[in-house]
Amino acid sequence: MAFDTIIAGAGIIGSSIAWRLAQQGLRVLLVDAGRMGAEASSAGAGMLAPGGEIDERLPWNDLALESLHLYPAFVAELEEESGCRIDFQRLGAIELALSGTEWTELEARGQRQAAFGIPSCPLTRSELRQHAPLARQDVAGALFYPQDAVVDPRDMMTALRAACLAHGVEIREGVRVTAIRPHAGAVRMETAAAVFEAPAAVIAAGAWSSQIAVEGQTLPRAFPVRGHLIGYPLAPHSLGPLLRRGHTYLLQRNSGFTVAGTSSEQVGFDRTLDPAILADIHARASELLPAVTGLLASQRWVGFRPAVDGRLALGRAANTAVWLAYGHYRNGILMAPGTAQRVAQGIIASSGTGSSALPGRP
Ligand code: GLY
Repeated sequence: MAFDTIIAGAGIIGSSIAWRLAQQGLRVLLVDAGRMGAEASSAGAGMLAPGGEIDERLPWNDLALESLHLYPAFVAELEEESGCRIDFQRLGAIELALSGTEWTELEARGQRQAAFGIPSCPLTRSELRQHAPLARQDVAGALFYPQDAVVDPRDMMTALRAACLAHGVEIREGVRVTAIRPHAGAVRMETAAAVFEAPAAVIAAGAWSSQIAVEGQTLPRAFPVRGHLIGYPLAPHSLGPLLRRGHTYLLQRNSGFTVAGTSSEQVGFDRTLDPAILADIHARASELLPAVTGLLASQRWVGFRPAVDGRLALGRAANTAVWLAYGHYRNGILMAPGTAQRVAQGIIASSGTGSSALPGRP
């Protein structure tokens, strides 16, 4: 079968791009070295929370905010096309400050963020109790971010698989792309088992992306930043908004399963769970949510955030039909809808025919 686009990496980024292209009638091959969505996309907590991540004006901020605004419609469309339910909740986030100094810094951050489109407002003591009765109440201050949301990334992946298949995307798992050779307006993608050709290719292989050699190009180096997470079985709807303090956070699925994170380690692709880091996350989570203090985590896991030298590899590699979509670091789940929109539009526009005359199935 001939393909219009071949995508290396079937995580949330690659799968979202595949879905968007296939919706426009393009014939898409989506390959993954392992199982679809099995790495960072399944490990991610699913924070859709720029308020906790964006502290200064940077080029990728717009993409994060644009994606957050796209999320409700993206989820609704994905649910409709896939027939799968997605646990998506827009309950906001509460950032807690435990000292006067922390509160001064947090208020100043909120004011800076307001200038680039992230609203927040201080909560009174009674508002904190009302929004988050289980949260620690003896705090120096609490800032509420009303637009923040959470999504279960595993639901997203289940739905993306179904939606991709419904649109005829060919998914091949256990196929590692080793090299891409751009030639005469097209690309040849090499795997151990086969060689594929198409007018365009996308590299969306997360922390593994720069292991793919692209002839004539030096790609931004991708590397993993490991994060540990733990999960507790709590009563459904007991947490309320996402709760956070710096890079410590708790969020709850509709089932009641409550995820606490996290850590950052540059240890390569080492999947070993570190008991000291897990204990530290439990201690930090207990500080914010005393209800988990005496609980044993029912799940513990690690994921590899896809970091990159520089900021976010997004766009077309010079003079090729190879598109880069990796390096989303702490915000891959958040930035999937916006990334998919931009890359799919770029590929369609550069096909030179406009969407009314795209190559595709009859
Ligand atoms: N986005 C949260 C994290 O990377 O832990």
